[in-house]
Amino acid sequence: MLVDILKALADPSRLRLVAVLLRGEFTVQELTIILQMGQSRISRHLKILTEVGILSVKRQGTWSYYRAGGDSPFFESILPVFEKELETLPERNEDLSGIAAVLEERRRRSQLFFDHNAGQWDSLARTLLPVPEYNSALLKQIPNGARILEIGIGTGGLLKELAAVGSRVIGVDHSPAMLEEAGHRLAADGVTGIDLRLGEMSHLPLSDSSVDCAVLNMVLHHAADPQEVFFEIRRILAGKGRLVLADLARHDRELAREQLADQWLGFEENELHQWLVAAGFKSILVEQISPLQGQETVLLVKAQI
Ligand SMILES: C[S@@+](CC[C@H](N)C(=O)[O-])C[C@H]1O[C@@H](n2cnc3c(N)ncnc32)[C@H](O)[C@@H]1O
Repeated sequence: MLVDILKALADPSRLRLVAVLLRGEFTVQELTIILQMGQSRISRHLKILTEVGILSVKRQGTWSYYRAGGDSPFFESILPVFEKELETLPERNEDLSGIAAVLEERRRRSQLFFDHNAGQWDSLARTLLPVPEYNSALLKQIPNGARILEIGIGTGGLLKELAAVGSRVIGVDHSPAMLEEAGHRLAADGVTGIDLRLGEMSHLPLSDSSVDCAVLNMVLHHAADPQEVFFEIRRILAGKGRLVLADLARHDRELAREQLADQWLGFEENELHQWLVAAGFKSILVEQISPLQGQETVLLVKAQI
């Protein structure tokens, strides 16, 4: 087996692939853009690396995301040294630019969708998800008097309740149309003092350690790179700060990609856990909110730094 692993790694294109997949999870189609290589060549290399346990595949409906790390203890043990060497590959800068371009395209797709469908989400959400149940469970997790950041506010349905609990509320969304809807709703409800900002969840328009509680409600499944988002939230949380997250449990409703611009068909509890631990969160608690018939299960996550 050791010989097979070493043989699998002894190829310049496969080293590039491993280096790219250590930075995130990508589909074959995205890898053809990043590495500027044909699909059949990429697929052949992926197969070789997956067979020896260096890579693994996450299937989401008809899409397959490849990622580094599988079932090879040897590969895991050499990884810290190996990863540094991969940074010196001759094509590394081009590959990093390719990764940035693919992640940017994921963000652009989601932003375009929300700019054109700002009003549609609320009614759809109530059909597909147990909204009253998870919203009330989520609000119970918000500490009284906290400085709160809500990321991906949508039409602002939660902001009024957050303002009633927090000492200060900031709402961030990357869609100008969504921010406008939320602004109108707050004005109609007579809610003042909420700071609405245009911003991207992976580059939040806030300074380090500036809020006590970050809320991410049905937004992470739009993230180009969920791990990056958790690092960013960790940055803006003050000491003992808390993240409260509600998102879909792993599902196979493929239509969510076309109809709702979802990047991820929900999440497994263990992948959320791994990303949160890697970003420095502790005391991670996950609760499943049971759906009504025909709806999706929602995961409610509380994590502390
Ligand atoms: C599915 S809606 C959820 C809205 C609201 N939280 C709710 O539960 O009703 C997702 C929201 O996140 C915003 N969003 C998606 N990707 C984002 C990103 N990368 N950065 C900031 N906001 C984002 C969208 O514009 C949209 O308003």
